[in-house]
Amino acid sequence: MKAIAIVGSPRKNGNTEILSRHTLKAIEEEGLDTELIRLSGLDIKPCNACMVCEKEERCPIKDDLWPIYTKMKEADAIILASPVYFGSATPEIKALMDRAGYIAYWKGGVFEGKVGGSLVVAERSGTTFTLAQMAYWFLCLGFFVPGSTDWNVAFGKEKGDVEKDELGLKAVWNFGKNVAFLVKKLKT
Ligand SMILES: Cc1cc2nc3c(=O)[nH]c(=O)nc-3n(C[C@H](O)[C@H](O)[C@H](O)COP(=O)(O)O)c2cc1C
Repeated sequence: MKAIAIVGSPRKNGNTEILSRHTLKAIEEEGLDTELIRLSGLDIKPCNACMVCEKEERCPIKDDLWPIYTKMKEADAIILASPVYFGSATPEIKALMDRAGYIAYWKGGVFEGKVGGSLVVAERSGTTFTLAQMAYWFLCLGFFVPGSTDWNVAFGKEKGDVEKDELGLKAVWNFGKNVAFLVKKLKT
């Protein structure tokens, strides 16, 4: 059983990555394998609406999408994490959601029955909108989306700031526990 967290911040070792590692640690404690995937430094272009994936499970754009799509297919749980950029998810994570999501949607059932959910970081505002924005992806693609003891958001600006957000850390930790619980229920 495996959970992956995909970090959509362009900033390596930043707040979104710290939060994602915290969630993965909670999941690991429950005996699942985990992997963190950074989009930073990878080339994931936006969807160009060629519609090839409506007929075949492939994307003709030559970039770093396919290895990540393959890992998403293999995982039992997928966590998408993004900082808030002007009230929204980053273009990096959105490009992945659009392309991986559209391929999976047209192939049919690729992500159905997996467990998933999102994590969001902001300096100050836009967290609930971004959380909802990302939730639509999971809810459209057949994921089971567990809750937590609060929304999966944390606050901070400079790298490491989220380490001081105790409530945020607690929320994403408990989310990780619920992800692991649900994966185990579904798989054993
Ligand atoms: C281009 C840009 C836009 C941002 N827009 C917002 C915003 O709308 N609301 C907010 O609270 N913080 C905003 N921020 C701050 C980041 O969300 C915040 O610094 C976050 O901790 C970055 O996470 P990271 O360290 O994982 O990159 C923005 C930052 C950048 C670079």
